[in-house]
Amino acid sequence: MKIVAIGGGAAGLYFAILMKRADPRHQVTVIERNGPDDTFGFGVVFSDATLDNFLEADPITHTEITQAFAHWDNIDVHYQGEILTSRGHGFSGLGRQKLLSILQRRARSLGVTFAFSTEVTDPSVWSGADLVVAADGVNSWVRSHFAAQFEPQIDWRPNRFVWLGTTFPFPAFTFIFKATDIGLWRVHAYRYEEHSSTFILETTEETWRRAGLDVASEDETVAFTEKLFARELGGHPVLKNRSLWRSFPTVQNARWHHDNVVLLGDAAHTAHFSIGSGTKLAMEDSIALARALGEHRDLGTALIAYEAERRPQVQTLQRAAQTSLEWFEQTERYHGRLEPPQFAFSLLTRSLRLSHENLKARDAPFVATVDRWFAGQASRQSGVRVPATPPPMFTPFRLRECVLPNRVVVSPMCQYSAEDGTPGDWHLDHLGSRAVGGAGLVMTEMTDVSRDARISPGCTGMYKPEHVVAWKRIVDFVHGGSPARIGLQLAHAGRKGSTRKLWEGIDEPLKAGNWPIVSASAVPYFPHSQVPREMDRSDMDRVRDDFVRAAGMAVQAGFDLLELHVAHGYLLASFLSPLTNRRTDGYGGSLAQRLRFPLEVFEAVRAVWPAARPISVRLSATDWKDGGLEPAEAVEVARALRARGCDVIDVSAGQTVPDQRPVYGRLFQTPFSDRIRHEADIPTMTVGAIASYADVNSILAAGRADLCVLARAHLYDPYWTHHAAREQGIDLPWPDQYTAVRAFTPRRD
Ligand SMILES: Cc1cc2nc3c(=O)[nH]c(=O)nc-3n(C[C@H](O)[C@H](O)[C@H](O)COP(=O)(O)OP(=O)(O)OC[C@H]3O[C@@H](n4cnc5c(N)ncnc54)[C@H](O)[C@@H]3O)c2cc1C
Ligand SMILES: Cc1cc2nc3c(=O)[nH]c(=O)nc-3n(C[C@H](O)[C@H](O)[C@H](O)COP(=O)(O)O)c2cc1C
Repeated sequence: MKIVAIGGGAAGLYFAILMKRADPRHQVTVIERNGPDDTFGFGVVFSDATLDNFLEADPITHTEITQAFAHWDNIDVHYQGEILTSRGHGFSGLGRQKLLSILQRRARSLGVTFAFSTEVTDPSVWSGADLVVAADGVNSWVRSHFAAQFEPQIDWRPNRFVWLGTTFPFPAFTFIFKATDIGLWRVHAYRYEEHSSTFILETTEETWRRAGLDVASEDETVAFTEKLFARELGGHPVLKNRSLWRSFPTVQNARWHHDNVVLLGDAAHTAHFSIGSGTKLAMEDSIALARALGEHRDLGTALIAYEAERRPQVQTLQRAAQTSLEWFEQTERYHGRLEPPQFAFSLLTRSLRLSHENLKARDAPFVATVDRWFAGQASRQSGVRVPATPPPMFTPFRLRECVLPNRVVVSPMCQYSAEDGTPGDWHLDHLGSRAVGGAGLVMTEMTDVSRDARISPGCTGMYKPEHVVAWKRIVDFVHGGSPARIGLQLAHAGRKGSTRKLWEGIDEPLKAGNWPIVSASAVPYFPHSQVPREMDRSDMDRVRDDFVRAAGMAVQAGFDLLELHVAHGYLLASFLSPLTNRRTDGYGGSLAQRLRFPLEVFEAVRAVWPAARPISVRLSATDWKDGGLEPAEAVEVARALRARGCDVIDVSAGQTVPDQRPVYGRLFQTPFSDRIRHEADIPTMTVGAIASYADVNSILAAGRADLCVLARAHLYDPYWTHHAAREQGIDLPWPDQYTAVRAFTPRRD
C-alpha cells in the first residue's frame, strides 16, 4: 500500500510506525512542514491507564516512551494560600520533542520516508497514493480543503491560554488559582523532565485584555508570568517556545473519511488540555486505523470500521473534556465561594470521570477530609449533631423548621391512578414504601389545584374536601412509619392539560371527554393539540386563588413542604418561556413581565403557607431550544423567588415544547443546579439521570446541589436509600417491623 501521512506529530508518526510494523512492504511517507527538531510546546502528559494499549501496539516505542517518563501520583491544588494534595492518581509526562524524536527514530528504522520542511498546500502531493492520512493537527489544511465532505464544526472556547515552560520541577500535577485585582488566573503545570515543567496559563478573555496581554509580545507574556507566579516558581525562569495566546477550539467532524483520505488525531477531534488526552487520543486513533486496515482488505470498509470504533470513544472523552473546560471557564463562580476542601473536590470531579467513590479508592484520607468538612457544615446548617463522618448523602439538611434526615429525595412522579383527584391505596403504597425505603424527602406527584387544572383524568388534586382526608392518610403514614418528610407538588397543567395517561400517549389530547384548557398564550402543544385560551386577568385571579386554597388544604393535610411546579411547560412555566408566552400585555415580553404571574402566585401561596415550613419551586432551567428560556434567565428567576421567600429551587429542564433538543447523559441537568446554586445563592435540588450513590455523594461534596432527586431509580428500587446505606456501611434505622433485616445479607447470584 502506498500511504502518505500529512503531519509528523504523534498521530502521523505513530500510524506510520504501526503500518510498517504490520507489513514492511507498505510504502509510507510522512510530510511535515517543520524540520525534524522543531517542535512547539513543552511536555505532554499521559495517565497510567493509557499505556497498556501502547505496549501491545509497539513494545519498542512503549519501552522508550516509558523510560523517558517523569512519573508522579499527586495532584496539588494551590488555592487561597493553601496547597491541597490528593494522592494516588498516576500520571506520566515527557517532553513533546522527546516523544517525537522517539517516534521519528523508530519510524526511520522501519523504513518510513520523511519529507520535512514541506508544507502541504495542494492535493497533487499525494497523487498516486492508496491512502492519505490527514494527521496535520488542529488547524488541518486537509480538513479545510475537504470541508464540504468532512463538515467540520469548530467551537472556539472563550478562555485564553498560553503554553509556557519553566525549569521549576513541580512535584505533582499542579493547579494554581490566583486572584488579582484584574481577575482570576488558572495554571495547569506538570514536570515532564527532571528540570522541565509545562506551565499553561489560562484566564478569561476579559482578564486577559485587562492585563494588556492581548497586545503583549512573547517576552512580555513571560515577564508577566514570572512576576505573577514568582512565589510558586521559587525564582525559576518561565520559558517560551512560540508561546502565543490562543483560545481552544473543540473540533468535531460529521465524517472522518472521504474517498481515500482519512482524518487522524487533532485533525479529527480535539479534547481540552485540562484533561490531558490529546496525544493519547491521537495515538489510539493510529492503533485503531492500522488495525482496521489489517483486518479489512477493502479500504472503504476499513475506514468505516476505524470510524465506527473510534467515534464513540472520542465522543465520551470529548464530553468529559467539555465539562472540564467549562469548569475552567467558570472558575470565578467557585473561587472564593467554596472552602478549600470543597473547591479541590469540585475541581477533581469536574469531568465526572472521578467520583466520590473512586476518589476514595485512590486517596481515602483526602475524601475523609472532604466528608469531615461536609459533615461539619451539615451539622451547623441543620442544628443536628452529625455523629462520626457519614458520606455526604447521609447528612441532614434544614429548610426552615423542616429538617430532612438525609439528602435523597423521591422525585414527583405522576401515577395517573386517582379518582377525581383523590389519591387512593396505590398512592399510599407508592409514597409510603419510598418513605420506608429511606429517602429523606418524598414528593407527591404533580397535584392539581382544580379539576380543570389536571393533566389527565387520573391525576391527583387538591381541590375538594375529600382530598385533604385522602392526603392526610398518606402524610400520617409517612410520618408514622419513617423519618422521611413529605412534600406536595402543586400545579396547573395549562396547555398540557386534558391529555392522556403516560402509557396511553404522553401529552396527547384525550380521545374523548376533553375539558377546555388555558395557558399564557393561545399556542397548542402539538399542532393537533387542543388550542388553549389565553388567560385574562379574571382567569389569573381564579387560578391564583385555586393555588392559595390548595396550599391551605395542604396545611390541613400536614405536608412538610410545598413545591410549586413552574417547569415542564405547565401553566406557570408557560408564562416564563418566550416560546409559550406571546402576550403583548404586562405579563409577556421581558423576563420581568413574564415572571409577574408566577411570582404573584408564589407570593399568595407563601402568605398562607406557615412561616416554619419551606417552599420549593421546580424550574426548567432551559427550554433546550433556541429562543426559549436560557440558564442565565433561570438564575434571575431563582433570585426573584429567593427574594420572596422561596427556600430551594428544584432544578429540572425542558419539556416546554415538543421539538426541544435536549442533551441527555449522566447527571445532565446538574450543571444548571450548580449554576443556580452559586449565582443565585439559593439551595438547590438536582434531578435527572442520577442513579448511583457515588454520583449523589459527588454532587453534594462538590456543592453542585444540596439535595439529590431521583425519579426512575426510585421506581426501580423503592428502597434505594436503604440499599445505598448498606453498601456504604451505614446503619440506617429500619422500621421496627423490619428489624430482622439487619441480620440478612442480600445475594443476587
Ligand atoms: C496547550 C496545550 C497543551 C496540551 N497538553 C497536552 C497534554 O498534556 N497531553 C496530551 O496528550 N496532549 C496535550 N495537548 C494536545 C496535543 O498536543 C495534541 O492533541 C496532539 O499533539 C495531537 O497530535 P496530532 O499528531 O494529531 O497533531 P500535532 O501534534 O499537532 O501534529 C500535527 C503536525 O502536522 C504538521 N502540519 C500541520 N499542517 C501541515 C501541513 N499543511 N503540511 C505539513 N505538515 C503540517 C504540524 O507541523 C504538526 O507537526 C495539548 C495541546 C495544547 C494546545
Ligand atoms: C413516571 C414519571 C412521572 C413523572 N411525573 C412528574 C411529575 O408529576 N412532576 C414532575 O415535576 N416531574 C415528573 N416526572 C419527572 C421526574 O420527576 C424527573 O424529573 C425525571 O424523571 C428525571 O429524573 P430521573 O432521571 O431520575 O428519572 C415524572 C417522571 C416519570 C418517570
